[in-house]
Amino acid sequence: MQSATGISENRRRSRAIVVLAKAAFAAAPHQEMARIADIVAAFAGVGRVVSAFSEQGRPSLRDALHDLLDGQYDAITILPLVLPMEPSFHIWLTKSLKRWQHESNRPWPPVAIARDVARSALMPAVLSELLAEGPDAPVPVPPEAVTEGSLVPAQKRRVLVCEGGPCNSAGADVLWGHLRNEQERLKLRVTGEGTMSAKSTCLGPCNLAPVVQVWPEGTYYGGVNEAALDHIISEHLLEGRVASEHAYEPNGRKQRLRAGCPQSNPMGE
Ligand code: FES
Repeated sequence: MQSATGISENRRRSRAIVVLAKAAFAAAPHQEMARIADIVAAFAGVGRVVSAFSEQGRPSLRDALHDLLDGQYDAITILPLVLPMEPSFHIWLTKSLKRWQHESNRPWPPVAIARDVARSALMPAVLSELLAEGPDAPVPVPPEAVTEGSLVPAQKRRVLVCEGGPCNSAGADVLWGHLRNEQERLKLRVTGEGTMSAKSTCLGPCNLAPVVQVWPEGTYYGGVNEAALDHIISEHLLEGRVASEHAYEPNGRKQRLRAGCPQSNPMGE
């Protein structure tokens, strides 16, 4: 029924589950997510379980959901394993879902988001069991690290992804995950002039959320979604040309997202 890919399947059933974590960088946490997916796959009425990540790690939530559309499941439930769950996390999850459904030309089954794990009635029992196991083996103290010094990065470009409140609510985490996955896939650190990336606090033009800024030009991009970010990567990061469709230049006046920008009207209403 399942495996190291984090996918468990039984097509005779019709409900698909996405077990969602924030990020995983190494193989071990991916395997841990696969183990959790196996547990969920054994529950009654579950047809398929996939693990996904809202920030960094593959697959991204968007990719996992699109993959599930092929299976024609009757319903999809997202199970966020995030503790604590910030209100902004739930907001961007809801907004992102609406946007992905609006951007897609395929039919979607009903998608539900499971309750915050911290609010489970079983939480006291889980905590109690963890504490009852007694102290773990002492954490080994690593030998004193040898200071080797650091390379000063040669990369000329840096992308800042704003993680301030409004940008977070508008899906900044999704953008960050998409950027990091693309950065790895396209080897952006060593391609062209080289690109590094970083999360940032508020970059200023909050009403253009989610906001991304590309240096050394300092170009502001507003209303950025995954497709816009792909365009910014191919135009600006790889070719050195400002992706003007999504760029906002300082003009001394307050600016809004331009009409037609998907983030200005994610439901198309
Ligand atoms: S919160 Fe992102 S620009 Fe202010």
